[in-house]
Amino acid sequence: MSTKEEMKRLDYTLPYNKYVDPEVMKEEREKIFYKNWIMVGHTSQVEKVGDFFTFDLVGEPIIVTRGKDEELHAFYNICPHRGAIVERTEQGNKKILQCIYHGWTFHLDGKVNRTPNFKTNDIEKPSCMTPIRLEVHQSMIFVNLNQDAPAFETDYQSFLNNINEYTFLSSLKKVRENRRIVQANWKSIIDNYLECDHCQIAHPSFSKAFDLTKYSITPCDNFSYQCTTASDEEEGPGARFYWVWPNTMISIYPGTGNMTTSHIIPVDEKSSLAIYRYYFADENLTADEEDLIKFVDQVREEDFELVELLQSGLHSRACGRGVYSPTEHGLKHFHQLVTKAMQS
Ligand code: FES
Ligand SMILES: [Fe+2]
Repeated sequence: MSTKEEMKRLDYTLPYNKYVDPEVMKEEREKIFYKNWIMVGHTSQVEKVGDFFTFDLVGEPIIVTRGKDEELHAFYNICPHRGAIVERTEQGNKKILQCIYHGWTFHLDGKVNRTPNFKTNDIEKPSCMTPIRLEVHQSMIFVNLNQDAPAFETDYQSFLNNINEYTFLSSLKKVRENRRIVQANWKSIIDNYLECDHCQIAHPSFSKAFDLTKYSITPCDNFSYQCTTASDEEEGPGARFYWVWPNTMISIYPGTGNMTTSHIIPVDEKSSLAIYRYYFADENLTADEEDLIKFVDQVREEDFELVELLQSGLHSRACGRGVYSPTEHGLKHFHQLVTKAMQS
């Protein structure tokens, strides 16, 4: 076969300008991050009445609280008086939220309590913090900034069916968290997670621990999952790595019930905030659980190096787009979903 014929058969990735263009990033923010269900946290972060955490959803500050009604609430962390950020800490427990600018106060469900610079507190709806849709599945908290979006179950039913087999998920607690700015476009970090062609060369400890000959990648509608078994296991539950459209990864390793989540939040077109969280049944970790965290951290550091190396070359005129190998179908599936979302 001639080189020309071979080139015709190659299957090309998203063009690289989608990874370096600030205008593309602006459009992705609107069409992807502000229109879809995004995982922002876990119920173990807001167990008691008054517990809250804040989250920057790609430039939109939000807050999730456990209200007096014991229900979870999500709203924009923005004061309706003149637009200041209301709660300035990442997490805590409060009876009431207060904006420090003119002192307006809000109940834990975002409804206004007092507006000291007005003669009355009775200015109702315009004086409340703006609510956001929130759903909880397997203790994971998802929000959607699009008030008209379909319910989570409509778009993610098969993901829920798949993950429901892990009956321990709801009893886990968030035990640890790492944050890191990665000098890479958010899609590069997802791309890296969605294929294991690089595992043999880049992840010596991972390749030793898992049998890569049994590695599989299964794209489904709005998610995909990768399975492998530990090298020393004949059969039995292996590791499963979920990616949930658009920016959440959920990994479950063999051993006692565990989960690690990764939230990839774009900062701009060439950098992202990666939030990594570890969940176990008990916050007092066993030696095996501490070892698992070390193992996962090391594999991630290896991946950071790769994606930062990639990002530093993506602007080059040398190559406008990449090609998929036959085992990079998870990556291709992600790119198809990005293309579809951007056409909407
Ligand atoms: S901006 Fe919040 S009270 Fe004025
Ligand atoms: Fe990797």
